[in-house]
Amino acid sequence: MGKNARKRNLGLKKSIPASRDRARDAAMSSSCCNAKGNGKHHHYYPFLAAAAVITFILAAVPAASAARRRPVRLHFYMHDIAGETAVQVVKGSGPLHPSMPPGGRHFGDTTVMDDLLTEGPSMESKAVGRAQGSYVLAGLVDPVVVVTMTVKITDGPYNGSTVVIAGRDDVLAEVRELAVVGGTGQLRGASGHVLWRTAEVLGAVHYVLELDVYATVPATSSALRLHATNATPIDAGGNKETMRNNI
Ligand SMILES: *[C@@H]1O[C@H](CO)[C@@H](O)[C@H](O)[C@H]1NC(C)=O
Repeated sequence: MGKNARKRNLGLKKSIPASRDRARDAAMSSSCCNAKGNGKHHHYYPFLAAAAVITFILAAVPAASAARRRPVRLHFYMHDIAGETAVQVVKGSGPLHPSMPPGGRHFGDTTVMDDLLTEGPSMESKAVGRAQGSYVLAGLVDPVVVVTMTVKITDGPYNGSTVVIAGRDDVLAEVRELAVVGGTGQLRGASGHVLWRTAEVLGAVHYVLELDVYATVPATSSALRLHATNATPIDAGGNKETMRNNI
């Protein structure tokens, strides 16, 4: 009892002066209304009822929208090999970057990549997709690259679908968080986040990155509706169907 009763009492102490002020203001600005006396209580209870309704709505909305989305978990390794799958296309024209390892880098350096994704950390393990996009050394002083990439999945239940990932990669941090900003096919409307770690650096040019994707997609996405009407959204035919629908 103690805690709740204390909370209620605090609520009363806060509310009563406010409603007294309102009653006094009403009495001063208008002589028509019986704001003093009985009016004091009339003001007070509707306020509490409104607060209760608002609390209920705020609690109900996240639960309802969560129920209409389904979770998607992906885990893979990305092989970023400088000069091979990751090619620098813009050399920043500013001064040398003060903190970016291994040196010789400039603000604005831009790299385009088409990196292999594998199931395990080894390049010999099963290929599961490609990460195609770019990253820009976008920190003036911080060792930060900003990544924009589309992951094409080529294996498993999401074969043929893509996930679009964007965000800030603070390269010296143990774990970086980037955003899942969209997707296509089975992953249309995806949103969520990616935990991004450097798993290994091989021969100074081959970065093995570990990506953990935590996303959700709408449970009623068009891809699922296509599936229900017997078209396969993830094979070539399904993709053509999807494109025709969008045009
Ligand atoms: C993925 O989809 C493509 C295109 O439909 C197909 O050729 C390929 O065999 C599929 N891969 C796997 C591993 O299912």
